[in-house]
Amino acid sequence: MSDFTNQVVFITGAGSGIGRATALVFARAGASVVVSDVNQSSGPNVVSQIHQLGGHALFVACDVAVPTQIEAAIRHAIDVYGKLDIGINNAGIGGKYGRFTEQTQSDFDQIMAVNVGGVFYGMQFQIQQMLTQPEGGRIVNVSSIAGVRGMPMGAPYSASKHAVIGLTKTAALEYARQRIRVNAVCPVYTHSAMVDELIQQAPAMEEKMRRMIPMGRFGQPEEIAQAILWLCSDENAFVTGQAIQLDGGLTAG
Ligand SMILES: NC(=O)c1ccc[n+]([C@@H]2O[C@H](COP(=O)([O-])OP(=O)(O)OC[C@H]3O[C@@H](n4cnc5c(N)ncnc54)[C@H](O)[C@@H]3O)[C@@H](O)[C@H]2O)c1
Repeated sequence: MSDFTNQVVFITGAGSGIGRATALVFARAGASVVVSDVNQSSGPNVVSQIHQLGGHALFVACDVAVPTQIEAAIRHAIDVYGKLDIGINNAGIGGKYGRFTEQTQSDFDQIMAVNVGGVFYGMQFQIQQMLTQPEGGRIVNVSSIAGVRGMPMGAPYSASKHAVIGLTKTAALEYARQRIRVNAVCPVYTHSAMVDELIQQAPAMEEKMRRMIPMGRFGQPEEIAQAILWLCSDENAFVTGQAIQLDGGLTAG
């Protein structure tokens, strides 16, 4: 396994699901993990779990829909650890399950503020710091299979996740010479609070969702976290601008 000792990782939405699994995977690999989340009870719990494993972590509250909060959170991480090696822009919301015509302006604006604004401003402040570091840095953004395909009943979500890939590719091109690698992961349905909420909104969908995945099952947060870790490892020094599909074979067909 790659060794991330002395590496500083900042993760948004790290209190639950994929973000939480990613925080634990990096902590086990030796990194110092800045656990950031809008939820002020789940984030500290993840930090306690990391401390119990003997790892290094701190919690910083941050609503990624508010650019000044992201800036302050990243600034705090840098003040404490002196640098930022890795940014994981993972925080996201699923939004309303409904057709185009049922989505309101506030549904659309909210999802764009969190899923696109959160990633855009997160990357901006992370890149500003990485440009001051001779070793550069690595960023992984969490998109979705809905970022490479349409998602009936989830137009704002699908649009937001397509945007994440645009931000990823553009930053990868702009900063390739400054040793900043930027990639995205695109998971299919993965066990988490977000998927539980979607199933609650449309219970009849669960079996259909499972059947559309060639492997016949949802992903596990740990499986997504391992791919994120792999993208950040030095063994992957030539990989940038990619949107890696983690989908049990779905987009192979
Ligand atoms: N679970 C899936 O099936 C799936 C599939 C594809 C992509 N994703 C993406 O993975 C990411 C993580 O989702 P998850 O499935 O782990 O869901 P989750 O609900 O378990 O976790 C999301 C976390 O983000 C936090 N969060 C929400 N809004 C925030 C905000 N404004 N500021 C800061 N933190 C905020 C929540 O508090 C929570 O801790 C999301 O971007 C999601 O779109 C999930």
